[in-house]
Amino acid sequence: MPSFFVLALTASACGPSDEFEEAICPEEGTDLTYENFGKTFMDRHCQYCHGSWVEERRGAPGAYTFDDHDSIIDQAEHIYNRSAGDNTSMPPGPDDPDVEERDMLAEWLACGAP
Ligand code: HEC
Repeated sequence: MPSFFVLALTASACGPSDEFEEAICPEEGTDLTYENFGKTFMDRHCQYCHGSWVEERRGAPGAYTFDDHDSIIDQAEHIYNRSAGDNTSMPPGPDDPDVEERDMLAEWLACGAP
């Protein structure tokens, strides 16, 4: 096996999984909630394209709106797979959340987005 491949595997083994099914909620649970984290994160980074009220959606599909806590729980897997941890395709940039914020999103969603 070429060594670059081993390196790539090792690198992807640390940090949150890129698949929602493998997302890990810490044993002690999470202090993150919709009120203290999730709402602010989604409003700041997603809703200016994805909000149901947005007219200029810049291509964001109408089926994907994150207006309230329930809609985020319903779409947790999709949100995780595009934005949490090492998944960085959403938002499309340039003002992306930093790694710590993406890791927090991963933890919050993995714990059921309380
Ligand atoms: C600048 C506008 C913009 C922002 C900000 C944005 N998105 Fe999107 N989003 C799009 C566009 C355009 C698409 C359709 C193209 C694609 O799927 O890449 C999309 C598609 C999606 C999809 C659907 C993928 C599918 O399976 O079809 C999800 C889920 C998503 N975005 C989540 C998010 C989340 C979560 C955030 C915030 C962390 C976010 N987006 C921020 C524009 C945006």
